[in-house]
Amino acid sequence: MNIRNEVTFASIRPKDGLTAALGKDRDVVVEEVLRSGLKGRGGAGFPTGVKWKLAAEAKAEEKYIICNADEGEPGTFKDRVILAEWADLVFEGMTIAGYAIGAKSGIIYLRGEYGYLRQALEDKLALRRTEGLLGDDVMGKKGFSFDIHIHMGCGAYVCGEESALIESLEGKRGESRNRPPFPVSEGLFGCPTVVNNVETLAWVAAIFALGPDWFKHVGTEKSSGYKLLSISGDVAHPGVYEFPMGTKISAILKAAGAERPKAAVVGGASGILVPAKDFKRAICFEDVSTGGSIIVLSEDRDFLDILENFQEFFADESCGQCTICRLGNVKLLEGIRLLKEGRCTTKHLQELCTLGSSMRAASKCGLGQASPNMFLSILQHFKGEVLGRPQADDHFVNKRKAS
Ligand SMILES: Cc1cc2nc3c(=O)[nH]c(=O)nc-3n(C[C@H](O)[C@H](O)[C@H](O)COP(=O)(O)O)c2cc1C
Ligand code: SF4
Repeated sequence: MNIRNEVTFASIRPKDGLTAALGKDRDVVVEEVLRSGLKGRGGAGFPTGVKWKLAAEAKAEEKYIICNADEGEPGTFKDRVILAEWADLVFEGMTIAGYAIGAKSGIIYLRGEYGYLRQALEDKLALRRTEGLLGDDVMGKKGFSFDIHIHMGCGAYVCGEESALIESLEGKRGESRNRPPFPVSEGLFGCPTVVNNVETLAWVAAIFALGPDWFKHVGTEKSSGYKLLSISGDVAHPGVYEFPMGTKISAILKAAGAERPKAAVVGGASGILVPAKDFKRAICFEDVSTGGSIIVLSEDRDFLDILENFQEFFADESCGQCTICRLGNVKLLEGIRLLKEGRCTTKHLQELCTLGSSMRAASKCGLGQASPNMFLSILQHFKGEVLGRPQADDHFVNKRKAS
């Protein structure tokens, strides 16, 4: 497995986190997650303790814990590595979450393309049941029952969005819901539901094994702890790396052996483009935030090829509910192809930029809101290079030859 530097998860002893958590009252468990400063590793960075507190306070017969293992963002593969190497930490994190909010059921929503991991995960779950780590009275804790099941996704990127994921789990089309209500109050089958990313849940197990203050003292003031990053593209050593939050992009690229980088795509296709002049910026929620991926682009890369690839993805993956996302992504793709062929007018380019801004503002979910990011980001930082020559007003903006 392509793990490139020391990863904390490798040093955590199985059962330590769960034993520590089950030795505390439920509200203390929630308080400790709050105190650790842990924020969601799935992209949005919502404080995990706040999410758990809201779900714990909700009054309901049934509650659910969902582990979001859909990992569809292009360039992101750290959850796959966590599930392959440290699945027990994820199961422990889910069990601790179940204890904290009063849920009996946990579901792993596993990306369809990760089907090959399923049998190993099922075997580990079966072993946990025989060891009393799942089932009735977990680890002898009277009255606390919890079990985990795996549900396979079918490869739709939008089903990584938590409300679309819940729709899909209910057997419906994977389409984002209107919010509020949020899943913590009305989630799966209308019950309070916590949806957390794979990495977030593994950190929960580590936090209880090593203590909330250990986590709080790593990283920056607003971004506690470490972050796993999937690093790919033009680097000598692609793989999964762990860095403290607040690490500069330049240091990360150096560790991965970046080759003549001119920019880095941070956060996948829906993330942002960071040009080389900004590599002093840091990976953390208050600066450059990411769910966990960096794709390095060398001097040799053509931005329009990258953009076309990303935009084809979004045009395919839009669930189609909102006109601005359904059509906007197709229009952006057509515009990129015109730019590649040297047939985009200055006026049309301006219209595409306005369209991108409108998509950000008017789309219903994060897919449509983030899909124009790369287009707008590349034009912001590399307009001259993309257009190929100075703009010709009221005429074609460039004379690039179709490649
Ligand atoms: C289009 C789209 C795809 C997403 N895909 C994922 C995903 O694959 N895994 C994930 O954890 N979060 C994904 N998210 C974010 C989830 O909606 C949600 O915020 C996250 O699972 C919450 O977990 P966390 O608080 O632990 O980060 C996606 C969001 C959007 C808008
Ligand atoms: S923004 Fe796109 S993916 Fe999200 S609900 Fe609207 S059409 Fe579907």
